[in-house]
Amino acid sequence: MSEDLRKDDSRIDHGRRRLLGSGGLLLKVVGGLLLFLPVLKFVDFRTRPRPRLIKVNRLLRPGGFLIEPEFVIFDLATGVVAVSRRCTHLGCRLNFNELENLLVCPCHQSRFSRHGKRMGGPARLDLPLYQVSVAPGEARNSFVVTVTG
Ligand code: FES
Repeated sequence: MSEDLRKDDSRIDHGRRRLLGSGGLLLKVVGGLLLFLPVLKFVDFRTRPRPRLIKVNRLLRPGGFLIEPEFVIFDLATGVVAVSRRCTHLGCRLNFNELENLLVCPCHQSRFSRHGKRMGGPARLDLPLYQVSVAPGEARNSFVVTVTG
């Protein structure tokens, strides 16, 4: 074997080692990220917001409703309920249409019943209902609504 061929082989071996060395480094980095991934998920861990108690001091007529910024309180045959006004499609604020007896979204026209049931439109989910409690001794003019989420 001539001297030139030995030098070429040496250069090729050196190139292979560098390539394998950089591949090993890449494997170490990827492996390290995979091991670190659970920690990243934990850091991004989000807690649910705490429920908020909102007091409403207004008279609710039998069969009537009270519109608040975050919900509508309805007096139904089954009792008093509070229905979220946040549309389950993209979050626009719903309006209550008395003529249609429906909550209607001004953005894309999703419609919901007084019970929060989806009746039509692009929204796919029903509206959340919030717990309503009547303040003791104040039968129809003071409510506490527990807003969750
Ligand atoms: S945001 Fe209500 S229908 Fe789209």
